[in-house]
Amino acid sequence: MAFDVDILTLFPEIFFGPFNESIIKRAREKGLVNIKVINVRDFADDERGTVDDRPFGGGPGMVMKPEPLYKAIQSVLRPDSTLIFTTPAGRPFHQTIARELSQKSHLVIVCGHYEGIDQRVIDAFQSEEYSIGDYVLTNGNLAAMIMVDAAARLIPGVLGCDESSVSESFSDGLLEYPQYTRPREFMGVEAPEILFSGNHAAIARWRHDQALTRTLERRPDLVSKKTEKL
Ligand code: ADE
Repeated sequence: MAFDVDILTLFPEIFFGPFNESIIKRAREKGLVNIKVINVRDFADDERGTVDDRPFGGGPGMVMKPEPLYKAIQSVLRPDSTLIFTTPAGRPFHQTIARELSQKSHLVIVCGHYEGIDQRVIDAFQSEEYSIGDYVLTNGNLAAMIMVDAAARLIPGVLGCDESSVSESFSDGLLEYPQYTRPREFMGVEAPEILFSGNHAAIARWRHDQALTRTLERRPDLVSKKTEKL
C-alpha cells in the first residue's frame, strides 16, 4: 500500500529541497511515498489571491480565511484521508503519532500561517492539530516536513537494512546508545573495548545500559513514562 501525502501550503517551493534528497527522494522514486504540494492561494476567490484577513475581536497579525482553505481541503479529501493541521497550539507530535500516521494510506497536512487558521475550517472536518514542540516557528511548513519525514521512514522498504528503524531512539522508549566507527582511536580516545569483543549478548547489554544512563540524564521524563506503563 502506498503512502500518499497532500500538503496544503502558501509556500510550496519550501518543500522542493527536503523531499528531493536522500531517503525520501529514493522512497518517492520507488513509489513508496507519493507527496503532492498544493498552493492554497490557487483556491482564493479574488484575482489578488487573498488568503488572509484581520482577526475578529482585534489583535496582531492575520488569520487564514476559511473559504480558500475549505475548498483546497475538499479538492484532495478522499474517504480514506487523515487530516492534520500544524499549529503550536496542537497536541504534541511524537514517535507514536509518527508510527500511527505511517500506517495511513492518505495524509492531508494543512500548514498553518500567520496568527492561525479560522477555527471553523478546523472544526468542519474530523481532524487533529499537532505541534512539533514548545516553540513558535514562522509557519507550519517545517512542522509538516518533520511529520512527513518521521512517518515516511517507518514505511516498510523506505529504509534499507543499513538504516533500520528498529533499534533507535524512542523505538523502545529510550534514547539511542552512543555509536562508534573507524578509526579505533581518535584524538587519543579509544572506542569502548566491549565493541570489539565479538560477544553479541554482552554488546547488547552494554548498549542497553548506555541507553538507560543517557535517558536518565537527559530525558528522565521518558523513564518515568516507561515505568508508569509497567
Ligand atoms: N507552526 C508554528 N510553530 C509550530 C510548531 N511548534 N508546531 C507546529 N506548527 C507550528
